[in-house]
Amino acid sequence: MKIEGLLVDLVPLGERFNALEHRWENGEAAFWGDVGDRQFVSLAVVKRRQEERAARKDQELHSGFGIQAKDGTPIGLFVVGDIKPHLRLGILGVQIGEPQYWGGGYGTDALLLIVDYAFDWLDLRRLWLVTMSLNARVTRQMEKVGFALEARQRRATLADGAWHDLLFYGVQREEWPGREAMIERLGLRAQG
Ligand SMILES: CC(C)(COP(=O)(O)OP(=O)(O)OC[C@H]1O[C@@H](n2cnc3c(N)ncnc32)[C@H](O)[C@@H]1OP(=O)(O)O)[C@@H](O)C(=O)NCCC(=O)NCCS
Repeated sequence: MKIEGLLVDLVPLGERFNALEHRWENGEAAFWGDVGDRQFVSLAVVKRRQEERAARKDQELHSGFGIQAKDGTPIGLFVVGDIKPHLRLGILGVQIGEPQYWGGGYGTDALLLIVDYAFDWLDLRRLWLVTMSLNARVTRQMEKVGFALEARQRRATLADGAWHDLLFYGVQREEWPGREAMIERLGLRAQG
């Protein structure tokens, strides 16, 4: 199974991605994803998280994909986590673990795929995420795709010795124009 985008595909998580996650969790992507934390994460912890994810998937509280470039290279993970079935909402979590793929539109391509998937397939009605104000790639992306800035916790996280705000973004199903319309709006194209 593969959900096909223009620059990336979303594919089932499995050994190929699991094997890379330990490096990604201890790299630069984790600093941005964990809003400024720089912790060493042991292999045992990564494996336990992977098992917990699989268990939550079985209970339909979590849905995750590997992100791979069009040449098949695994570059990151995208999850809809903490799904509340009675409220039909979930939190988005993304990590492109390979920094050379940042800023090239890969994350936006993956985001459009996962939002459509969450609304059309999981039948959620609201998605949200949290980032830090320092994370310009995410704030720019949120602006581009029209997620609303719903809350700001001022100076709530510490990144490399400086305080930054936590930003909470959300989108409701009726606000989402759909991937095709968003591709058109953003002028996204497959790589030539
Ligand atoms: C967040 C993430 C998935 C975004 O994916 P991406 O492929 O890097 O993002 P895109 O290239 O699609 O979009 C980023 C936008 O920010 C812009 N941008 C890139 N670097 C920037 C920088 N340092 N400052 C300001 N803007 C920047 C890009 O130009 C692009 O905007 P544009 O399309 O108008 O040119 C990816 O960067 C990532 O995994 N980062 C590390 C982990 C992380 O931050 N996770 C998210 C936690 S909420």
